[in-house]
Amino acid sequence: MSLQDLRRFDVPFDDIKKQREYAAMAKSVLDARMGNGKKLAYVHTFGCQGNVSDSERLKGWLRLIGYSFTEDIERADLVLYNTCAIREHAHDRVFGNVGALKPLKAKNPDMIIVLCGCMMQQEHVWQKIKKSYPYVNLVFGTHSHHRLPELLYKVLRSGKRVFDVFDTEGYIAEGMPVSRDGTFKGWLPIMYGCNNFCSYCIVPYVRGRERSRKSEEVLAEARGLIASGCKDITLLGQNVNSYNRGSDEMSFAQLLREINAIEGDFRIRFMTSHPKDCTFELLDAMAECEKVSKHLHLPCQSGNDRVLGEMNRGYTREKYLSLIAYARKVMPDISLTSDIIVGFPGETYEEFRDTLSLIEEVGFTSLYTFIYSPREGTKAASMPDPVSREEKGKWFRELTSAQENIASKRCQKMLGETYRVLAEEYKGGILSGRTDGSVMIDFPGDESLVGSFCQVKVTAARNWILSGEISR
Ligand code: SAH
Ligand code: SF4
Ligand code: F3S
Repeated sequence: MSLQDLRRFDVPFDDIKKQREYAAMAKSVLDARMGNGKKLAYVHTFGCQGNVSDSERLKGWLRLIGYSFTEDIERADLVLYNTCAIREHAHDRVFGNVGALKPLKAKNPDMIIVLCGCMMQQEHVWQKIKKSYPYVNLVFGTHSHHRLPELLYKVLRSGKRVFDVFDTEGYIAEGMPVSRDGTFKGWLPIMYGCNNFCSYCIVPYVRGRERSRKSEEVLAEARGLIASGCKDITLLGQNVNSYNRGSDEMSFAQLLREINAIEGDFRIRFMTSHPKDCTFELLDAMAECEKVSKHLHLPCQSGNDRVLGEMNRGYTREKYLSLIAYARKVMPDISLTSDIIVGFPGETYEEFRDTLSLIEEVGFTSLYTFIYSPREGTKAASMPDPVSREEKGKWFRELTSAQENIASKRCQKMLGETYRVLAEEYKGGILSGRTDGSVMIDFPGDESLVGSFCQVKVTAARNWILSGEISR
């Protein structure tokens, strides 16, 4: 790894102070224009939890500029889409949504439309927006989040469209305001970007190089979350196992121990773990830390060594299985989940069957399964891809039905057992929440329990849907 890869790009605190001044200036322009009445923003996030967490910071800025939030797009004075480029489907949904804004803007010409996030980092995308979607006011990429106030102010003052997209290895900006979506569940980014360049994946191109937040910042944010009543903290990064890699600073395993030592009744989750960098030390730390959920999301992508090699994943099936075996040795009840790509270019049906045998062998609690989607600019996009979409669809269904059987057997085993569940939602007398292993259970209870841990005994398992009752 080059020195360049290790360098941190910290945004000076003065720059963030300056952005606060821009926020005040943008607010006074809006107040003068719209009176002191409520200004409403509609913010929608596509993609992963990293994007959700970014949106919480973008909403922090919008709140400072004087916006409140609405779920009703028709009433919005500002619409912001934080976009995702991971698969064609995500891409198409964004264009569909942006197209649907045209009549809204015609009805309300003062509406400000903002597009940001991973998709905007792609030149062919922002060029298309520039050319064919003239009603979009502001476009910025993933490296400009900390400058939202300045960019919005520019739009307001000039009345012109603003495009702010550029390539860089990436920054770390601390000190941004955060408007969190919930009180008892919190996203906590520990690193940004990715260096792995898996051959199918767009993330390294749109998010820049891997960089870790300082552990003091992460710990301070964790303490703040816990003090404000958060019960479930998820540490976020594309490859959390390589947190602070290449420096003498705290490793991910140490970070887990430090957060675990903070006083309070909460649980710690993390994602995503990359098998290439997952170590026995980390699994030991998970086992030792009582607040760390015994759940490991460890994407394998494929069970075939040739395909894993072509994907540039940096591990073999054997190494993957040895991690699983060790995890089960030190945490016998651990719940395992994974991501799988079906139909990588050149994958044969025999090779796909190795993925099927891997999932049988491991017995995952659940899987996120995707059909390979070519992303412009990635290595895999130029590989020969002879298998038809229809054929890949068949393999995909074979995989999901195999997983349904596995999950349903696992659910049967949970019958009669009692689990600690964080009640997350309430609807018509029924609470639902997740176990430490991230399994959803529905159970009758009072709305006042939302946000608290309940002991729930599993009383019924229909396929992979569990229901239960509070046991005390
Ligand atoms: N950093 C994580 C993954 C983040 S992307 C990791 O390495 O595990 C989430 C998932 O999207 C990936 O695990 C992969 O299964 C899927 N994915 C990424 N690019 C894809 C593509 N081009 N086509 C289909 N699925 C893809
Ligand atoms: Fe994409 Fe691979 Fe990085 Fe995950 S580790 S974000 S799959 S390049
Ligand atoms: Fe999508 Fe960007 Fe996340 S491409 S999956 S939103 S890092």
